[in-house]
Order: sequence, then structure tokens, then C-alpha cells
Amino acid sequence: MTVQQLWERRDAAIPRGVGNVTPLVLAKAEGALVWDPDGNQYIDFVGGIGVNNVGHRHPKVVAAIRRQLDEYLHGCFHVSIYEPYVALAEKINAIAPCPGPKKTMLANSGAEAVENAVKIARYATGKPGVICFEGGFHGRTLLGMALTSKVLPYKYKLGAHLQAIYRAQYPYCYRCPWGKEYPSCGVSCGREYFEDYFKYNTHPDEVAAIIIEPILGEGGFIAPPFEYMHQLRQLCEEHGIVLIADEVQSGIGRTGKMFALEHFGVQADIVTMAKSLGGGMPLSAICGKAALMDSVHPGGLGGTYGGNPVACAAALAVLEVIEQEDILARAEDLGINARRTLLALQDRFPAIGQMRGLGPMLAIELVSDPVSKQPAPELAKQLTAYCHAHGLLVLDCGTLGNNVRTLMPLVITDEQLQQGMDILAEGMEQLG
Ligand SMILES: Cc1ncc(COP(=O)(O)O)c(C=O)c1O
Repeated sequence: MTVQQLWERRDAAIPRGVGNVTPLVLAKAEGALVWDPDGNQYIDFVGGIGVNNVGHRHPKVVAAIRRQLDEYLHGCFHVSIYEPYVALAEKINAIAPCPGPKKTMLANSGAEAVENAVKIARYATGKPGVICFEGGFHGRTLLGMALTSKVLPYKYKLGAHLQAIYRAQYPYCYRCPWGKEYPSCGVSCGREYFEDYFKYNTHPDEVAAIIIEPILGEGGFIAPPFEYMHQLRQLCEEHGIVLIADEVQSGIGRTGKMFALEHFGVQADIVTMAKSLGGGMPLSAICGKAALMDSVHPGGLGGTYGGNPVACAAALAVLEVIEQEDILARAEDLGINARRTLLALQDRFPAIGQMRGLGPMLAIELVSDPVSKQPAPELAKQLTAYCHAHGLLVLDCGTLGNNVRTLMPLVITDEQLQQGMDILAEGMEQLG
């Protein structure tokens, strides 16, 4: 079976709506490398979109999956409880950035985690409203896409018109929505902005939750100013609003800390996580203050597959690997290295308007002119295509599609990182 033949079968059998963002056909993967059926090797700066933080097929994760396969594959947690689900909930309760006693429920995907977090917040507060942000991405289910900001491809004609969803500006300092400069702005986008927001959009008495990515994922790896998250926390406190941190992309070590919120020293009422939690198995978790999580009546939460035992076994192994192999320290180093290289690229190429991110969760924003900051989405497309053709998998992101992001497995070697960065630099030389 050649690469071309599989693409033909794919086109015949699978709808185009399930879009493809690289031409890769996957045949094998290990650590930070992937291969196609023709034996071509790629350095992976994508990690299955942030899923392989501990690397493709980490031996301890594979071994845990194998052990669980010999015990049982499925029982449905509602029918028969099992230890891996309980153990994983205990583990997540011990590490999630929420205050006080915590409880955790499990689901299958990031979007499901978001859906459940909102259900719980609405139930607990008895209020309907949810405030989300411009540039935010929360999944492709009906509620997920309603909360998501990017119209194409995620919402267009797909029925994303749910009630009581309100959108606020995200503090995107490079293109400040209020035309201000950080830090002289005094971060007025936190308190002052919301004082007005609550007059023009909805009253806080009708708002159950504010859902925020502590660093935008699909939206372009934009992190808010440090003070902003504290202001948001205080605002939620004052108005009895549940602060939901969507850490589906930023969690489980991606930013050099277990959760991106830790960079701000802020805790959320509910944290959603998925992607790298399952190490490649479909799994998500919703962890929150015990009193909130327990507000919903029995049977109001869950599903047939949520917290599948094999996925739980994989996740327990992932969390163990992160601890035992000091992956967070490695991620921090990686972030420093990658940041240095990308900053050097920014100095060389005016088309790189900004380099930003937290730890190794980094992106470059491409512009046609650094002064006018005119977005250059075509350049981002050409650059990712160049990289794919030269052995590096890398993705664009951002509401305007003009960012290129790094989501490499955190176990990538220094040599592989350098090779990948060299390909990116060659691409900029050719195109930028
Ligand atoms: C922040 C965030 N929330 C939710 C989701 C949706 O996750 P899933 O694709 O697993 O439904 C994503 C996916 O990229 C995400 O980045």
C-alpha cells in the first residue's frame, strides 16, 4: 500500500469535513519521530496535536496498556467500578490547580470535558450564562463550537447558536483590542473591562462560568499578562462565577509546569484536561472543588466509555513517567532552548512579528510587515508545507491562521530539536 493509494481510499471512504492538515500517512512512531509507509522519517513538532508530551509509544505507557489488556477492557464505570478510574481520579485530585478538597470525573475527549465542566457550573450556580473568549477553542461538539471563537472551519453553518454564551476580548497584547501597551495599560482588560462588560452584555447574576484557556491553543499560543488571571480570579470570587480553566492543550506538562495556570499562581474552580493525559488513548478529566463537583444528582454526569480502564492505565503511567523521568524539568530546558532559537529567527526575519508562549509551548506570529502587523496566513501555510516536504511536522494556528506552533513531544532529544529548528529556519530563508 503506497501513500498515494491510501489517500485515494481515504477520499473515497471518509467525508472531507474531517479535514487533514498535513499530507502525512502514519506507519510508525517512536519518541519524537514518525515514519510514513514509504519509510520517510519526520521530526514531530506536532505530537498528534499536543497528545504525545511523553513521546509516542513511551515504553512504560505501552507496558501499562498491555497489562490492562490482560485484565479487562471495559465494564462501564456506571455498572461496575474499577480501580484504574479511582486511582486516576485520586492522582488528578492531588495535582490539579484547584483549592481545597477536589473530585474528578473522566470522559473521552477535550470537548466532552468542556461540556461537563459547563454542565456542572450551571447546575451548581443555578445560572445559565457562560463567558468565553475571542480566539478561544473548546472543541467541535455543539457547546464546544458555540464556545469556540474561530468561525471557519469550526462553526460555519454547523449550528453553533446556543443561548447564554457570551464572548469577551482576550488580552492579546501584541494586537491589544483596546490599542494599549503592556505594562503601561495597567491591565485594565481585567477588572475595568468586565465592569463595563457586565453592563453591556450580561449581568454577573446570570453568569455561571467564565471559561478561559490560560494560554490560547488553537487561538495562537497567546498568554494573558500575569496580573490578568488574578483579576479574573477575583472577579469570579466577587460574583459567584465558576472559573473554568480549559487546560486541554496546555496541561500535563506542555508549558514546563503540570498545568499552565501554575505560571500565574492562580487556581481555578474547575480544570479540564485531555490530550497528553491519555498518552495517545482517548481520555479527558474534569477536576474541581468537591462541593461543586458533587452538586449534580447521581446519573446526571458520565457516559458509557468515560474513563475506559485501558485509557486510565495509560494515564496513570503518563503521570508516573512525568514524575519519575523529571519531564517538567526537561520541558523547561526545552522551552529555554526553543525560545532562544526562535528569538534568533525573529531577529533575522522581519516576517516574524512576535515569538511567544509559555515554556516549550511556543509560536511565531507571521506578518507581511512588522510595523503594520498585517497577518501573513499564506506564509504560515507555505512554511508548514516546506517543513513537511523537508522532514518536519509542524502546524499553523491562530484565528487568522498566521502562526506556526511547536507541540513537540517533551522527550525530544536536543539533536532532534536542533534538526527541526534548522528545517524551520531554512523554510524562513526560502520564504520569509
Ligand atoms: C483548549 C482546548 N479545549 C478543547 C479542545 C477539544 O478537544 P478534543 O478535540 O479532544 O475534543 C481542544 C482541542 O484542541 C483544546 O485545545
